[in-house]
Amino acid sequence: MEILREILLTLHLLGMAIIVGGYFTVIRSPKVLAGMLHASYLQLLTGLALLTLAEMGDGQVDHVKIGLKLVIAILVTVFAFLGRRQEKEATEQLTPGLPGTTAGPAGPARPAGPATQTIAPASVTNPSARLAHLTFSFAVLNVLIAVFLR
Ligand code: HEM
Repeated sequence: MEILREILLTLHLLGMAIIVGGYFTVIRSPKVLAGMLHASYLQLLTGLALLTLAEMGDGQVDHVKIGLKLVIAILVTVFAFLGRRQEKEATEQLTPGLPGTTAGPAGPARPAGPATQTIAPASVTNPSARLAHLTFSFAVLNVLIAVFLR
């Protein structure tokens, strides 16, 4: 049982690292990455599994702390989910009909060549920037609760 708890805790910590680390990889131009959403699912799954193990053990479980963590983790997942949706919608608007997108009929073919090249600005505000900040901040809040409310 102890080895299972350790494996779950490892996955739980890796999930936290993916959310927080993922945010830092795009800190110059924040957006919600797909990995951040998947890691938020992982946090819910591993957190609930850890809770189940804790309930089965002899020790006391702090239900206020776990309840807080659960609510915050659900918010993290909702923020990441909405952020990914905003990113996908923006990509579809920019590239209608491109394979891999679910947009309608293809728009007019773009002429090839240097005339179509765009110059990327130094920093871009992505559609999901605000949700990325929220995803990151609430994940950090859950770390603080996990560490300080013992
Ligand atoms: C974004 C979401 C989450 C983050 C960032 C997070 C973060 C953490 C961290 C850093 C620890 C390690 C604390 C330590 O060992 O000192 C931890 C432990 C734990 N977390 Fe979470 N957590 C999240 C979601 C959840 C959820 C949703 C649950 C359950 C409903 C949960 C239940 C637990 C439990 C039971 C432990 C203790 C594991 C043990 O020591 O046996 N967590 N969490």
